[in-house]
Amino acid sequence: MVLKQPFLEAIIAYCRQGILPLHTPGHKQGAGIAAGFKDAFERWGLQLDIDPPVLPSGESWVAPTALLTAAQAMAADLFGAAETFFLTNGTSAGIQAMFLAAGKQGKVVLPRQVHTSVISALIISDCTPIFVKPRGTSSDLPDSRLDPDELRFVLSATDGIRAVFTQNPSYYGFAADLRPIAQIAHEYQVPLLVDEAHGPHFSFSADLPQAALQAGADLVAQSTHKLLTSLTGSSMLHVSRAYRHLDLGRCVDLVQSTSPSFLLLASLEAAVFQLAEVGEQLVEQVLSLATAFRERVKDLPGITILGDEEIQAWGYPDYDRTKLVLDFSGLGLTGLEAAAILRQEYQIQTEMADFRRVLAVLGPGDTEEGIIRLEQALRLMAAKYYQGRKLPDPPALPGFSELAMTPREAFFAAAAEVPLAQAAGMVAAEIIAPYPPGIPVVIPGEIITREQIQYLEELAAYGFNIAGTTGGVPRRLRVVI
Ligand SMILES: Cc1ncc(COP(=O)(O)O)c(C=O)c1O
Repeated sequence: MVLKQPFLEAIIAYCRQGILPLHTPGHKQGAGIAAGFKDAFERWGLQLDIDPPVLPSGESWVAPTALLTAAQAMAADLFGAAETFFLTNGTSAGIQAMFLAAGKQGKVVLPRQVHTSVISALIISDCTPIFVKPRGTSSDLPDSRLDPDELRFVLSATDGIRAVFTQNPSYYGFAADLRPIAQIAHEYQVPLLVDEAHGPHFSFSADLPQAALQAGADLVAQSTHKLLTSLTGSSMLHVSRAYRHLDLGRCVDLVQSTSPSFLLLASLEAAVFQLAEVGEQLVEQVLSLATAFRERVKDLPGITILGDEEIQAWGYPDYDRTKLVLDFSGLGLTGLEAAAILRQEYQIQTEMADFRRVLAVLGPGDTEEGIIRLEQALRLMAAKYYQGRKLPDPPALPGFSELAMTPREAFFAAAAEVPLAQAAGMVAAEIIAPYPPGIPVVIPGEIITREQIQYLEELAAYGFNIAGTTGGVPRRLRVVI
């Protein structure tokens, strides 16, 4: 009997269909990967996937350091860090390591609307979150900015804060000014930790938002795989000179496998060499593709591409112009509907969709040909899909909920599942997040509100993919009993 391997078959089917991947990873199925790494992969294939106890150099692999020292030091140099760690469990591991090292089981100030990996880091590190209210935006999108005045107030009014954390930029590429945030954190002698999963390319162009390290951040995790050219799951964690003493390596070891993939590590090394050689050129290519595309589609009826006007209206000082955020509401299509059409009719897979918009992610592996293909698909859609229907307003994001206990306490508390509709007033014991973008609607420890329940129901009705431990669309929710 031939055993079915549905996962492998699905990946192969994806490759066969000739889909245009306007999503991560940034190397785009190998097109943008560093030449040396690509040559080695083509020549040696699976033989490269080794994990010997002793390397030909004689180095023990138990603590894989010496051979990577040069590349990690080169990365630190390139990104303006005192020290850089290569990660094989993604930025998720970097975030866990920073909470462990800087949070030290204490209080960390952060915005509520952060990626699910941050909530996992709170659970693992046993840190207590002090959530700062968002500054308020007219967008229906989660806002991970810290308001400087609120931050100063919280730092002055709360004892024992160990660190300040924020995410920048957002998944869509909207960027805050981190300089005042870093300055305030430093006034109170605490480090600024930044989830820069979506900004590893910022250091390589003056036309992109300022990179967190340059703005004064101290611990910064970046998904090299998402927007540069290393393999999926490979990220970097950078440390500033001022916080080198945190001895982050100890915490990195806690969250990494003892069998790190050689391929992932080699791909990070290759990405660093590539960036040192042609980093600016590489990012410039992506920016010019995006600029040319913006110019070509700016007059398309019914489809708008988010630019200066919208981003400034939402109060963001800057944004990542390589991210193509396409709003289809002028055609009467939701983002989810538009993304499905792009995929089914035009074999174009985008990164993410919401009530109004579709996010196409460009990376060093993208080409002029791909951009033209997207433009042609949009032209056909504009002609074919004009619905003349006005979309209802997107559901309002639920307001701030209170924490009855820490995420860790709630995660380990005795719990039971209840129907979602009956969960209001109870304390959540699990994370419920639409994915992507993976910003939880509910986190462990929060007193569940009617607004949160209604929002989840609305997301489900729209067809969002909602990740929760109790299954796809959370009809039931795990609560503390
Ligand atoms: C904002 C944000 N932070 C962190 C992560 C985790 O990154 P990684 O996939 O590299 O673990 C993601 C992943 O999508 C993300 O969107």
